Amino acid sequence: EDEIHIPKQEWHHDGAFGTFDRAQLQRGFQVYSKVCATCHAMSLLSYRNLAALGYGEAEIKAIAGSVQVSDGPNDQGEMYERPGLPSDRFKSPFPNEKAARAANNGALPKDLSLMVKARHGGEDYIYALMTGYVAAPKDLKVPDGQYYNQYFPGHLISMPPPLQDGIVSYADGTATSVPQMAKDVAAFLTWAAEPKLEERKRMGAKVMIFLGVFTALMYLVKRKVWADAH
Ligand code: HEM
Repeated sequence: EDEIHIPKQEWHHDGAFGTFDRAQLQRGFQVYSKVCATCHAMSLLSYRNLAALGYGEAEIKAIAGSVQVSDGPNDQGEMYERPGLPSDRFKSPFPNEKAARAANNGALPKDLSLMVKARHGGEDYIYALMTGYVAAPKDLKVPDGQYYNQYFPGHLISMPPPLQDGIVSYADGTATSVPQMAKDVAAFLTWAAEPKLEERKRMGAKVMIFLGVFTALMYLVKRKVWADAH
């Protein structure tokens, strides 16, 4: 098994001062909800968390309200369906692992909430995986229900290529090529796995500035204290 090299991409959130590109996160959420959500849950997220992407209260109510969630039991002891609320977790596509596997040839589409943290390569891996479906080597027989992906460990993956050009239409009009959608959904999954990334980086920058000022000050103090020491 040769080692797979995951190419690095450039991200808006890279670097000591990196921030998320809100428009990109919204596009990525669109990709997740139109495409990935048919198989993958993101059960650590609530609809109200989408406020961090720049969605307003009315938009969030509409997004949540467009799904039916099950609730209950009510006073009669029955479960019932109701439109989603901002406080609900993202709706999962399957009721349990068994149902998820049954719909996917025995393979499990895992929850994507923390996937960026769980895989070597992080967001670069997500991008690579989405764009990594290529023809299998001639001597390899790809079993039914599996697909060849140059970046998946072992290369044979049970996820059909999820993205095709134009599979979503972006609210902001951005062209929906596979690499564009791959980039956007990977950025969205990065935010999902680390919503406080910007705060962390801001704090890091403040600490560095403080240390710089403190070091200069201590140097001046040292010069003053030892001024007559020769
Ligand atoms: C696996 C992402 C759409 C079915 C995965 C993995 C990721 C991922 C990161 C894990 C690979 C690993 O274990 O390293 C996405 C994204 C999607 C998407 C970002 C949307 C753009 C879908 C759809 C389906 C699906 C629509 C079902 C038709 C699966 C299955 C696996 C999987 C069955 C397990 C594959 C295996 O272990 O062989 N997906 N996925 N995914 N996905 Fe998706």
